[in-house]
Amino acid sequence: MTPEPVTPEPVLAVEGLRVSAATDHGRVTVVDDVSLALRPGRIHGLAGESGSGKTVTGLAVLGLLARPALRVEAGTARLGGDDLLALGERELRAIRGRRVSMVFQEPMTSLDPAFTVGRTIGEVLRTHLRLSRRAARARAVELLDRVGIPEPDRRVDAYPFELSGGMLQRVLIATAIACEPAVLLADEPTTALDVTVQAGILALLRSLADDGMAVLLVTHDLGLLAEHCDDLTVMYAGQVVESGPVADVLTAPAHPYTAGLLAAVPSATVRADRLAAIPGAVPAPHLMPTGCRFADRCPHRRAECAEPVPLTGGAGRARRCVRADDLVLEGV
Ligand SMILES: Nc1ncnc2c1ncn2[C@@H]1O[C@H](COP(=O)(O)OP(=O)(O)OP(=O)(O)O)[C@@H](O)[C@H]1O
Ligand SMILES: [Mg+2]
Repeated sequence: MTPEPVTPEPVLAVEGLRVSAATDHGRVTVVDDVSLALRPGRIHGLAGESGSGKTVTGLAVLGLLARPALRVEAGTARLGGDDLLALGERELRAIRGRRVSMVFQEPMTSLDPAFTVGRTIGEVLRTHLRLSRRAARARAVELLDRVGIPEPDRRVDAYPFELSGGMLQRVLIATAIACEPAVLLADEPTTALDVTVQAGILALLRSLADDGMAVLLVTHDLGLLAEHCDDLTVMYAGQVVESGPVADVLTAPAHPYTAGLLAAVPSATVRADRLAAIPGAVPAPHLMPTGCRFADRCPHRRAECAEPVPLTGGAGRARRCVRADDLVLEGV
């Protein structure tokens, strides 16, 4: 008898995150009731169209929201015994880059052009681990090697402008993992890169997960997530609409939005006559309905969809749809 595969406990558990933003229409909620469980050794995909709240979610967890425009209104983010959302800046500074790291959406703007890559990586090691200059440089070379940069003992002295986009992304990842954090949040790490370079970065993220890291892979590219993640959370208009093991979500989506997205993914397993975009548009944050946010675009809506819909089903396989039990949606 083969034992049931054990799902590891989450290292980072976000629950009920709500973030508001100051806009021309006053304060509006841009992230609402977001829960995410990141587990060691697994890549957790976070999907959702532009503006759905993926980046704001990552920034909120690290206490990096642009204040005062953005503000956490509710929720917890448990990392070990700490709630990151309740910590002050001083405590967060000791955790960021050390226990949780983030690779940001624009690699070019995340590196200081005046610093060699060795110095950039070295700063993190010197700040968090109090390494000497010499030890930090030696470790930076090892890290460049770890992320697949050829000739690391030469490249350690390179400036950002001397490196390609794919190499810069690897440098950012090396910086992020320098202190061996338990969690790596990677926000669109491959969007600006061509396909072969992208494949290399994804292989690197996989090898980090294989080393035991919990990786969050944020992207609006569902096809990429289908191929590269273990767990998947889908966001729509600032809310999680469903989450679960990636194969479950893709083969048996529980939310009509996910089913609509899957129908729009160009892939060998999807027939061309289903390559239809979902009609309609995401409601503006200040015009968000109190009920299901997807209702006005949903072919399955009912009267009860006008009421607020909770996320049900628990962390293993959650969905936010009143019809989750009676609808059978087509996956891929
Ligand atoms: N500094 C800010 N001030 C006000 N609103 C903001 C700010 N930053 C983000 N928002 C709003 O928060 C919402 C979520 O934005 P976010 O950047 O998290 O989306 P995203 O899912 O990461 O999109 P993309 O795929 O384009 O990166 C959007 O409506 C956005 O306009
Ligand atoms: Mg984003």
